[in-house]
Amino acid sequence: MEKRTIMVTGGAGFIGSSVVRHFVKKYPDYKIINVDKLTYAGNLENLKDIEHFPNYSFIKADICDFVDMCRIIEENEVDGIIHLAAESHVDRSIKDPFTFARTNVMGTLSLLQAARLYWEKSPSKYSGKLFYHVSTDEVYGALELSCPNGTGISNECGGGPYGRDFFTEKTAYMPHSPYSASKASGDHFVRSFHDTYGFPIIISNCSNNYGPYQFPEKLIPLCINNIRNKKPLPIYGTGENVRDWLYVEDHSKAIDLLFHKGRVGQTYNIGGFNEWKNIDIVKLLIKITDKLLGRQENEDIGLITFVKDRAGHDLRYAIDSSKLRDELGWQPSLQFEEGLEKTVKWYIENRKWLENVTSGDYMNYYQDMYKLSLS
Ligand code: NAD
Ligand code: DAU
Repeated sequence: MEKRTIMVTGGAGFIGSSVVRHFVKKYPDYKIINVDKLTYAGNLENLKDIEHFPNYSFIKADICDFVDMCRIIEENEVDGIIHLAAESHVDRSIKDPFTFARTNVMGTLSLLQAARLYWEKSPSKYSGKLFYHVSTDEVYGALELSCPNGTGISNECGGGPYGRDFFTEKTAYMPHSPYSASKASGDHFVRSFHDTYGFPIIISNCSNNYGPYQFPEKLIPLCINNIRNKKPLPIYGTGENVRDWLYVEDHSKAIDLLFHKGRVGQTYNIGGFNEWKNIDIVKLLIKITDKLLGRQENEDIGLITFVKDRAGHDLRYAIDSSKLRDELGWQPSLQFEEGLEKTVKWYIENRKWLENVTSGDYMNYYQDMYKLSLS
C-alpha cells in the first residue's frame, strides 16, 4: 500500500476522533498525525483505544498559529490534510462570535497558507497532495417547511418528507448564524486557494452527525444524559425544526472515499436523506432510553420542556447527497432507529466518559498528562 502522512486537525473532537480511528485502523501504512488544540470540545479519551497504534501520533497545537502549522507540516512531510478543527456549536457562536471567526476563518487560512508554501517548494508540487476541508450543510442557510405534517417522500411535495427542496452542491450560500457564517467564510477561502493557485482541495458539506463521543451540549447526547438523570429536556421554540441526521461513522467512511477517490476541486454533499423534527427525535430518545434503562414506556415524557427559541434558528435542513452516491456509490450503512439505539447504549455503557465530560475533569487530566510527557 502507498505510504502517506496525513494530518487530521480537530482529531480529538467528536467527528475528528471517528475519522482518526477509521484511518489509523484501516491504513496501517499511513502516518496519521492528530493536531488539536484541546479546547473544551477536544478530549484525548475519545482516542484511548488507538493511542498506542504505531501509525498514530498527537500534537497539541492551535491551527491559528501559522508558524507552528508551517513547522508541523514541514517537519512531518505532510502530504494530506483532513481539516476538521473548528468551533462547532451554534449556541456558543451566538454568545461569542469572535472565537468562531478566529478558528474557523483565520485558522483555516493559516493551514491553507502553511500547506501551500510547503507543497509549492516540493519538486512534485501539488501532485499526490490534498487539502480536504470538512464543512457543514448550515452554510446553505435554511429550507422551507412546506409539508409541516411530514406527508412523506414522493407525495405532493415531490421532495423530502417535510418539504420540496434540498440543499444541492449548487445551492447559494446563505448562512444565518455566526457559526455558519464562519464556516462559509472558511469554505470560500479553501475554494479561492484552488481557483487562484491550483491548490488541490475537496470540500464536503455534511448534515447533522450523531453517535458516540459527541459533546453533551448537542441535542442528542444532551437529551440522553438528561433522561438518564431525570432532568428537563429543553426544546427550542415549538420543536418543529427539522434536521437531517447521519451516523458519525458513515460520515468518516464518506470522507475516506472522497479523500481517495473524489474529484479534486469539487464540493460534495454528505447526508442520509433522513429528516426528523426535533420533537420527534426527543420522543424517540425517551422511548429508547427508558427501554434500555428498564423504566416504564414513556415514563420520562414529562421531562419535555419547551424553552425560548434559538436566535435565528434555521427551520429545516435537508441534504441531497446524490452526487456522492452516483459518482462513488456511497450510502449510509445504518437506519436511524438502529443508529440511535446503538448511540443511546453507548452513552449508558460509557457513563464515566459522560461524567468526566460534564464535570470538566477530562481537561485537567489530559493537560497534566501532556505537560508530564514533555518534562
Ligand atoms: P467538535 O466541537 O466536537 O470538535 C472540534 C475539535 O477541534 C476539538 O477537538 C477541538 O479541540 C478542536 N479545535 C477547536 N479549535 C481549534 C484550534 N484553534 N486549533 C486546533 N484544534 C482546535 O466538532 P465536531 O462536531 O466533531 O465537528 C468537526 C468538524 O465537522 C467541524 O469543522 C464542523 O464544522 C464539521 N461538521 C460537524 C457536524 C456535526 O453535526 N457535528 C456536521 C457537519 C460538519
Ligand atoms: O447541520 C450540521 C450542523 O449540525 C453542524 O455543522 C454543527 O457543528 C452541529 O452542532 C449541528 O448543528 P445544530 O445546531 O443543528 O445541532 P444542535 O445539536 O445544537 O441542535 C439540533 C437541533 O436541536 C436544532 O434545531 C436546535 C435544537 N436544540 C438544540 C439544543 C442543544 C434544542 O431544541 N434544544 C437544545 O437544547
